[in-house]
Amino acid sequence: MKNWTDLWLGYHKVNVKKADELYSKSVGKVYLEGFLEDESICANAIKELTHGLKQMIKVSVKIISNAGGEIEEENAVVIKKDDSIKKQGYRYQDNGKRITISAPDENGMLYGVFALLRNVAMQKERKADELCEPSNPLRMLNHWDNMDGSIERGYSGESFFFKNGKIMTGSRIVDYARMIASVGINGVVINNVNVKGAATYLISERYYLNVKKLAEIFGSYGISLYLSLNFAAPIEMGGMDSCDPLDENVILWWKNKVWEVFNHIPNLGGFLVKADSEGRPGPFTYGRTQAEGANMLADIVKEYDATIIWRCFVYNCTQDWRDTKTDRARAAYDNFKPSDGNYHENVVLQIKNGPMDFQIREPVSPLFGALSSTNEMLEVQIAQEYTGHQIDICYLIPMFKEILNFRTYCKDECDTVADVVSGRTFGNTCCGFSAVTNTGDDENWTGNDMAAANLYGFGRLAFNTELSAEEIAREWVKLTFNVSKEAEDVIVNILMNSREIYEEYTSPLGIGWMVTPQTHYGCSVDGYEYSRWGTYHRADHLGIGVDRTENGTGYVSQYFEPNASIFADVNKCPEELVLFFHHLPYTHKLHSGKTLIQHIYDTHFEGYERVLEMQKNLEGIKDELDQSVYDRVSGRMNLQVANAREWCDQVNSYFYRKSGIEDEKGRKIY
Ligand code: GCU
Repeated sequence: MKNWTDLWLGYHKVNVKKADELYSKSVGKVYLEGFLEDESICANAIKELTHGLKQMIKVSVKIISNAGGEIEEENAVVIKKDDSIKKQGYRYQDNGKRITISAPDENGMLYGVFALLRNVAMQKERKADELCEPSNPLRMLNHWDNMDGSIERGYSGESFFFKNGKIMTGSRIVDYARMIASVGINGVVINNVNVKGAATYLISERYYLNVKKLAEIFGSYGISLYLSLNFAAPIEMGGMDSCDPLDENVILWWKNKVWEVFNHIPNLGGFLVKADSEGRPGPFTYGRTQAEGANMLADIVKEYDATIIWRCFVYNCTQDWRDTKTDRARAAYDNFKPSDGNYHENVVLQIKNGPMDFQIREPVSPLFGALSSTNEMLEVQIAQEYTGHQIDICYLIPMFKEILNFRTYCKDECDTVADVVSGRTFGNTCCGFSAVTNTGDDENWTGNDMAAANLYGFGRLAFNTELSAEEIAREWVKLTFNVSKEAEDVIVNILMNSREIYEEYTSPLGIGWMVTPQTHYGCSVDGYEYSRWGTYHRADHLGIGVDRTENGTGYVSQYFEPNASIFADVNKCPEELVLFFHHLPYTHKLHSGKTLIQHIYDTHFEGYERVLEMQKNLEGIKDELDQSVYDRVSGRMNLQVANAREWCDQVNSYFYRKSGIEDEKGRKIY
């Protein structure tokens, strides 16, 4: 008996009468043309189709392989090869009787099958002709799982890959692969970017067999496995005295190591590297550039068709912020822009969405679009490290939509972040979208059942960046819960408002942080973990915010025009980011006519009130949810209420004491 849920692949029994009219007659016979029933991905697609249809509408599927020629049967599913469709895409046609899925490869075929299952589960009206080609070539999940079973920034139990230094390869991995393949994920990094302790390196004999097993399981769902590497492996593992990327002996060590790895795990997708950051070693130690470090590895893995994913989260965490020119936000651009064009073709730079670190509100990183001759990948975090730890509900897809839609102005057109990372802007093929993921070995995978909407949503969005946040939320609710339309609306509403609410009761207007150092949950207005000097908000008794204009840190100039001028002008700067870019007096008038301090008071009181309302709405649908789901979600909701209260009180009283300005509405500030 497995002790984990099926998330959105529960295939609830659907309203049979309606489904009968809709799908049952058409899906009993499945003709395969150009795909082999026993090829691994294809076999899994058929298995899923058979299982899903049986569960939902009690149809036993008959597979007719090597169909060929004219298929006379009108009421049927036809799955056929079509090379005119973009790699990993599919076309879904439904004339009311016959459903045709055309795809150029097995991944596309698998995604087409999942689309059919989704449509049946949602009892979607028939008649369709949709070409669904992936927006992003790479659609990846990054696990920050450690070999001892712990997960860095993990809020849903322990790792399901590793336990006490061992790798697990059981049926939970298969279920996980199914789950993420169903939303179009095609790459997964299984271990933490902070690779520590040579004895636990996955690139060693003691692990190859099981890593190979994992790679095969994922491979059978069209997903490539990647591993995080420690750049200092030649020292820590090889006993050498250097890991200088230009040292011949170091290069030789890597060549041998990589040969060994691919000899055991031929279908490995490549490696992910975090270098020169937060204590991680890297090329800077030897006076080498990030490009020299990345290219050294990329040249070695090239013959295995593999990719080096190199993170741009490179900054000096011990900077002294008392100097007003010093600015961590500048780091990614300053470190990577000068070497644009120097990266080899199988290197992709993975860039965090904002210049800081996954805050509830940040501007988009100015590196997007600035690297016109380098492969770029967008990195977001669904693990909610700073956005509620999967305790507080925070549906992040609306935020990801804003990021993807941001115009970089790197060109006159086709210049949004979505365009850049999809490869459309500069013609790259090695690029895409990745997320630091939110799963663990909790029964429901994501701690808070509602947090699974972020996993589902990330995958769906990475595959199709045109989908709306609400469309995705609704799909997820329909597939996950077997509830009435009214309850569905309640959950969709909770999700759709949750990011705004979280932002209201936490840090205001783009300033970010104010979180408890190290844990990053709960309020600590002055919290700053790296030294005793800084605060992120730079508040004093007159005002708050960081001047990032030319008069301040100069960060704004990293953007293309007109973004640079817009952010630099306090009147034009999008208000939700105004404190990220400007230091303003508490009496500054916002567009609403309110003063800055009044805005802080109002949003914090309101944020808290809205959490209470959310709690009431959840209680209202109690009877429609499984008891276990309700218990988990409502238990966390109680914690969210307490958290919001705490934030509201701490932030308001801090700024009341700093500014000495009364709340206009005379509410009690503790
Ligand atoms: C954040 C996070 C770390 C993580 C780092 C990264 O700083 O707190 O735990 O290692 O991001 O993205 O590498």
